[in-house]
Amino acid sequence: MSSSQESWGSRLGLILAMAGNAVGLGNFLRFPVQAIQHGGGAFIIPYLVCFLLMGIPLLWVEWATGRFGGKKGNHSTPFILHELDPKRALWKYVGVFGIFTNIAVAAYYCYLESWTLNYIWIFIQGGFNEIGQEGVANYFASYTTMDQNYSAIFFWLICLFLNTYILSKGLSGGVEKAAKVGMPLLLLFGLFLAYKGITLKAGEFGALLDGTVGLNFLWTPNFDSIWNTEVWLAAAGQIFFTLSVGMGSIQCYAAYVRSKQDIALNAMSAGWMNEFVEVVLGSSILIPIAIGYLGVDQVVELTKSGGLGLGFKTLPYLFTQWGSLLGAVAGICWFGLLFFAGITSSLAMGTPVMAFLRDEFGWGRRSSAWTFGLIVLLLGAPTVFFFNEGVFDEYDYWAGTVSLVLFALLEVILFAWIFGMDQGWKEINEGADMKIPSIYRFIIKYVTPFILLAVFLGSLPDILFKIQNPGNIYVQGARLLLLALYAGIAFVVYLAYRRRKARA
Ligand code: ALA
Repeated sequence: MSSSQESWGSRLGLILAMAGNAVGLGNFLRFPVQAIQHGGGAFIIPYLVCFLLMGIPLLWVEWATGRFGGKKGNHSTPFILHELDPKRALWKYVGVFGIFTNIAVAAYYCYLESWTLNYIWIFIQGGFNEIGQEGVANYFASYTTMDQNYSAIFFWLICLFLNTYILSKGLSGGVEKAAKVGMPLLLLFGLFLAYKGITLKAGEFGALLDGTVGLNFLWTPNFDSIWNTEVWLAAAGQIFFTLSVGMGSIQCYAAYVRSKQDIALNAMSAGWMNEFVEVVLGSSILIPIAIGYLGVDQVVELTKSGGLGLGFKTLPYLFTQWGSLLGAVAGICWFGLLFFAGITSSLAMGTPVMAFLRDEFGWGRRSSAWTFGLIVLLLGAPTVFFFNEGVFDEYDYWAGTVSLVLFALLEVILFAWIFGMDQGWKEINEGADMKIPSIYRFIIKYVTPFILLAVFLGSLPDILFKIQNPGNIYVQGARLLLLALYAGIAFVVYLAYRRRKARA
């Protein structure tokens, strides 16, 4: 089957796959930590403003550009963007971001995803019982120290294999099925853990405080920080990461939507499902349980070193306080939930690369999926072997943060100002099963580009600082690899364009 003949099996499958794309490790590990670090209740106001004025508009823009490109047989951003402004060669190379980001994020994301599989395995064996807080922390430290750890490599390879295998089964036969199984299980596990988090009682299983103390801390407004640009940048960054906007994966999934099928309501269903999982479930597990046992000050201190420590060192130990059976069930639910959240997102990172190879070079589904797997293996290896040297964080910074903002800024300018809002608005509304408030026409044209520009300019000092301070040799190598990846994809896009011209 050629890429153009492929499509989603059902509307439910499409929405679950899109929601699965958005719901990821970011919802459960990144969001609660960002919220705590940036003033709890004060974070949620910029967060919601960014969701309404930047997230929702970008969802509509990306779904619309994707479906528009798909009508003309283009399923990845280089030629989807080209289709919006065929006269200028530049857009193809802007569209390279939509492949680059997916590969580079998948390269470190799949490694993180593989940790969850390993932790499930350890919980099944009861391996965290009796080793205490320090034992769990030491386990994490040795797991990421590669010269001693073959099981990390083993689980990473399994995870890459699973991703590639599911991708090779196609959209309806692989991605959609994985979302239909993964999303309900994730919700089930999440509801169970959120219930345990919220109803945690002081004195029960050795907890010091009620679970509601953590929730109150998270949601008590602290308006001092609301005028702080850092809080706004963090909120905008979280919206990008959690919705997977500015990546190129939404456009790719939407390119397989049938030409007259609704995108307006579908985009909202997937987007709001992500917000429910993030704001309701994402806040009710990690923080209430951690604060219930460790108190506010210690948890605030722990969030300073990011969310990974809390999720992989603290929580597994706290679960063991619930006794061996309930602790194992909770551990399996927590890491199972993270695994399903992760894999439904990393599958979305594979599709743009596959779509590009299939559209431009006529490759089959299997060969393009295995090629993606191989590229992620090669590019991901430095994040596995030099995790502690900063390679993982470097990929996350350039591909998982900076690229998203830059690409979204350029794509919204193209959509609203060059393709034009008359045509753009028509595209968004075509086949719509809901009435989109007309204020969004104004927001997409003026407000969203303005916010994106402000976010980009606000991040510039940090970007310049990073450029001027290149870090250790591993970090420098990582940067060179990422640059080479971008240049390599741009070159292949150039070759594809020449092929198209020769055929025409
Ligand atoms: N949107 C995905 C996440 O939140 C990438 O992890």
